[in-house]
Amino acid sequence: MKVVITTSELRPLLAKKSSPKTRVLVPTMGSLHEGHLALIHRARKIARAEGVVILSLFVNPTQFDQADDLRHYPRALEQDLALCKKHGVDIVFAPESGDIYHSDHSVTVTESSLSQRLCGASRPGHFDGVCTVVLKLFNLTQPDVAIFGKKDYQQLVIIRRMVRDLNIPICIEGVETVREKNGLALSSRNQRLSEQQHSDAQRIRSALLAAQTAHQQGEKSAQSLLNTIRKIIESSELDVEIDYLELLDQDNLKPIETLSSPSIIATAVFYGPVRLIDNIELD
Ligand code: PAF
Repeated sequence: MKVVITTSELRPLLAKKSSPKTRVLVPTMGSLHEGHLALIHRARKIARAEGVVILSLFVNPTQFDQADDLRHYPRALEQDLALCKKHGVDIVFAPESGDIYHSDHSVTVTESSLSQRLCGASRPGHFDGVCTVVLKLFNLTQPDVAIFGKKDYQQLVIIRRMVRDLNIPICIEGVETVREKNGLALSSRNQRLSEQQHSDAQRIRSALLAAQTAHQQGEKSAQSLLNTIRKIIESSELDVEIDYLELLDQDNLKPIETLSSPSIIATAVFYGPVRLIDNIELD
């Protein structure tokens, strides 16, 4: 496994793009957990033994709207490198911020529709930061395929839209959310939950599953499905607050009142200061 720190080291390594070997990128911000390992395994499978799996480790400053959040973002480089080696990554790209963003940079990507709701509503500029860095990573590594988790569903839909709208010749692959035994979606934020919050937070998954069951039994009203979820989450005895809970079209993230097309229920829930997100697809 090669570890590359600078963009200039990366260029000669990836220069021969005429090669038929599949190149797959897994963009991450590090602090890798089982969820990331699932992305790496999918990448390895797509690239096959002869292809190249590149994992980027970069805590992207432009997608943080609060300096504190950026400062406290967990970093675990040594551990991440060991995991990458163990799980078959070929190249780790771990650049410094100054190598990615020129001090006077003035060109960025803006997404003006899908990013206005859900997580984007309370994090202005977040998805523009994500799109900008992902486009940079695409340009630097020139993959055939890039892998993203479905846990950040809005991010996945926005990246797909960017690829479509900017004619980027890269296939975007979404990977199912990896969960703890109790159903809680894996996230580096889970480390910040108390034991009691951690155990209680499984109700988010239970609530989404209850809505899925109701849907399978014929319920088509968004209001009724969302009420089912709200009741379960809000019956917690802890300090729990729903930030958003919406039923949306899977492709354009527009709210749906009566289910007819493939949809998704997406939610963000605060456990004290820790914000957890999850979703469930209704096909
Ligand atoms: O999902 C993430 O970890 C980040 O948003 C990404 C895609 C690596 C961009 O910084």
